[in-house]
Amino acid sequence: MKSTNVVWHQTTISRADREVQNGHKSVILWFTGLSGAGKSTLAHGVEDRLHQMGCRTFVIDGDNVRHGLCGDLGFSDKDRTENIRRVGEVAKLFAEAGIITLTAFISPFRADRDRVRALVPEGDFFEIYCKADLAICEDRDVKGLYQKARLGEIKEFTGISSPYEAPETPELCVETGTKPLEDCVDEVIGALIQRGIIQISS
Ligand code: ADX
Repeated sequence: MKSTNVVWHQTTISRADREVQNGHKSVILWFTGLSGAGKSTLAHGVEDRLHQMGCRTFVIDGDNVRHGLCGDLGFSDKDRTENIRRVGEVAKLFAEAGIITLTAFISPFRADRDRVRALVPEGDFFEIYCKADLAICEDRDVKGLYQKARLGEIKEFTGISSPYEAPETPELCVETGTKPLEDCVDEVIGALIQRGIIQISS
């Protein structure tokens, strides 16, 4: 911490006030998985459904954030850790704002994800493992990056030359490699209803 002489200012409108106004709780839905596993697609699919239900939502997406807030970071272990730290802090603010926040980052390191989990109150961090075999992601190769990584044109590529640590006990594991998108969306929405984060009538 380099900041000194700073004093926390208490808000007058609380998170609970915002949740009452919104008609739902806020939460961080943290989608993690390999590149091409379908994190962004699933996050946006879930957001669409939540939006239709009248929920306040926002997706924070890895590729997009790297155009701005984290544009100074690369893909070394250290930079990925910093990427996830910053996104975790932003997601925490969004949750305070009463919003259902969906994040789509590879977030390959368990310790980094756990650090975000520890940043927010118990139950606020809902980890969703987008499970797809490397072979399937590589076969999809939507952005052509796996091919470049295999050719050595991209260094430190997750799954090829940089590790991915799958969650051991995620709140939810979705088989995004094999299941249709709508089924995956149904699973996430079902889990949110079951946990009382949203209600069927909302
Ligand atoms: S993370 O590891 O720090 O969480 P993040 O989700 O922000 O990664 O960004 C991943 C996206 O960056 C991938 O979907 C891919 O499009 C792109 N990318 C570019 N270089 C790499 C790389 N070396 N490893 C993984 N993804 C990369």
